[in-house]
Amino acid sequence: MNFQAFFYFCPQIEPKANNRKLLYCDSLDIYYQFLSFKSNITLSFQRTFSSFRLFFVSGFPSVPYDTSMEAAMTLRLGDTAPNFTQDSTEGTIDFYDFVGDSWAVLFSHPKDFTPVCTTELGYVGKLKPEFEKRNVKVLGLSVDPLSDHTQWVGDIEETQGHQFNFPLLADADRKVSNLYDMIHPNANDTLTVRSVFIIDPAKKVRLIITYPASTGRNFDEILRVIDSLQLTDGYKVATPVNWKDGDDVIIVPALSDEDAKDRFPKGWVAHKPYLRVTPQPNK
Ligand code: BEZ
Repeated sequence: MNFQAFFYFCPQIEPKANNRKLLYCDSLDIYYQFLSFKSNITLSFQRTFSSFRLFFVSGFPSVPYDTSMEAAMTLRLGDTAPNFTQDSTEGTIDFYDFVGDSWAVLFSHPKDFTPVCTTELGYVGKLKPEFEKRNVKVLGLSVDPLSDHTQWVGDIEETQGHQFNFPLLADADRKVSNLYDMIHPNANDTLTVRSVFIIDPAKKVRLIITYPASTGRNFDEILRVIDSLQLTDGYKVATPVNWKDGDDVIIVPALSDEDAKDRFPKGWVAHKPYLRVTPQPNK
């Protein structure tokens, strides 16, 4: 395998690039070459080394490429959420064991002892019963060590008025942050952005959102999306703009009027043949 030639054909990789930038090659050929390279060669090298580092040199400063299993592809909707084991404020967590048959919300924070993060974590603690009602486990992440987390949790409880009632991953080695692409080097080389992943019981990624460090997220919106996902999984409906639980929903266009009669006995209003509005079926 000629690694230099491979890199040469990816001219848009920035000198500062981390491994993931390789996936942004325009050429599909190179994309697939990368995938095949990753799956075949990584495994064979791992027989000798736990991981190896490869240095690309063609026309660019040397860029180390970490081929360990943590260097995953960018996640997309519908992908299987990768499993991991990491320390947390509630002990070591195996993600799949932690999630079990529930849904999960995995969300990252740039850093401990930061004001926006403090308010977010306090609010998620307050919402915990709402997540539980929906069979959702919440799991935070920050790239600082457990000793910092423990101290920070005290601050969060003191200032936000809620018990800290869910685990916060101590991802000091960036294992999970890298696996879930939570570090965006052009925003910040080392800290995570504010990522949110909603993962269903089949471990499929159902939502990905990314906020900048300076903007606190709206966790009521995360609950709203979970309501929508859980509803649309069970019925042939979609949810319209600004929908919230209890509002009317939209019958999916793929369903014929004939079939819709059986499924939606309350009837519907057809504003257009493709825009049929019906009361929320499970209310
Ligand atoms: C914060 O959580 O307050 C924060 C973190 C990183 C950058 C800006 C704000």
